[in-house]
Amino acid sequence: MASSDITSVRARRVWDSRGNPTVEVDVVLEGGARGRAIAPAGASRGTREATDLRDGGTALRGMDVGRALASVSDVIAPALIGQDARNQAEIDTIILGLDSSALKATLGGNATVATSLSVLHAAAAAAGKPLWRHLADQYRHTPSIPLPEIQIFGGGAHAGRRVDVQDFMIMVPGAGSFEEVMEVTSEIYFAAGAIMSKKGRISGVADEGGWWPVFDSNEEALETLVQAIEHAGETPGERVVISLDIAASEFGADGVYRLALENRTLDSDGMIAMLGRWLDAYPIASIEDPLAEGDPTGMRAFTREFGERVQIIGDDYLVTNAGLVRDAAAHGACNAVLIKVNQAGTVTESIETLDAARKAGYRSVVSARSGETEDVSISHLSVGLGAGQLKVGSFTRSERMAKWNECLRIQDELGADAFVGGKPLAGTWWGKAQTGMKS
Ligand code: PGA
Ligand code: ZN
Repeated sequence: MASSDITSVRARRVWDSRGNPTVEVDVVLEGGARGRAIAPAGASRGTREATDLRDGGTALRGMDVGRALASVSDVIAPALIGQDARNQAEIDTIILGLDSSALKATLGGNATVATSLSVLHAAAAAAGKPLWRHLADQYRHTPSIPLPEIQIFGGGAHAGRRVDVQDFMIMVPGAGSFEEVMEVTSEIYFAAGAIMSKKGRISGVADEGGWWPVFDSNEEALETLVQAIEHAGETPGERVVISLDIAASEFGADGVYRLALENRTLDSDGMIAMLGRWLDAYPIASIEDPLAEGDPTGMRAFTREFGERVQIIGDDYLVTNAGLVRDAAAHGACNAVLIKVNQAGTVTESIETLDAARKAGYRSVVSARSGETEDVSISHLSVGLGAGQLKVGSFTRSERMAKWNECLRIQDELGADAFVGGKPLAGTWWGKAQTGMKS
């Protein structure tokens, strides 16, 4: 037996940032190396992403994971014991072979992703390397510290649908280091809180730690975000830009979009026109899921019209699926993909999606879910795979801060030159406006 052969795979129930049960998997190798990973959980899920297996019924609101734990202990573990943890692709192929359903519904995406990531951690430990370096070596990428997208206001499914748009975020592409991004973000986050407090509109934070959005319209949130950037001493559109996740699949289907907060309904063209006005009026450099996953005509039209000036990310639209990325590229939909390992269900499928994105000339953003834990795997994935961007949620709550803090630690090792800065936004209006940017 090789020292990197798997000797044990054990699952336990732990709890996520929303207080829901989730799956943690420990993997132990012959030589004593160990891996551990925890499955995150989304609230605004794409219909084509890997399905989490939940127990249903009334206990724990149907959210318990007993069946997913059993998938690991009864089905996945016996198949993986004796396998070499260094062969991630083979491990993931074995896992895939155990579930013939389309969306991993039999084993549960929560069971597969925790196991797949845990094996990856064990292999890195066996190699005596931090995960980011193991990934960079294994998949031949130059490691880099990503440009973050950080939420200031939450919304949509993460804030009781108080506003329709899900994420009002900032990016700091003009920063020279990851530390600088953190500092600027902290100033803007608290400036936003102060503005809301002055208006008597503070009511806590949403699921990902951004301010709970007490606004009368979606655009009021945008206006407040611009003010917050200004109150923090910044000129919006210079060092700091805005990024939105519309998460349009949450309120749009069959070409009909219902903006509940504003009590109006738009068709696909109406959505495109409204977003176009926002792009003209605010310094928005990135926009995610501007149209619904079932509206490819709208997404292609939006990309045709705005793809040269803004990053257009497919999340629910592409669900970390290499085939969907290739298809979108062939039809001119989106120019970037969100990479969520649990949407794919395994590490290998996520990396295949990232590779497909690179081939298509798409940008990549490694992303957390709204239900998260202390697991910091995605910080390492974003660095080790050289993805360029990282989306984790806001700037409070430790399941979020753990990921940002991990990037700071990695940057200590890699050096500040490894920070990609604004490079991922080259090709957008922001990138084109920059001269003398760090090259
Ligand atoms: P989710 O949403 O994790 O709740 O699905 C996050 C996102 O849409 O980016
Ligand atoms: Zn999204």
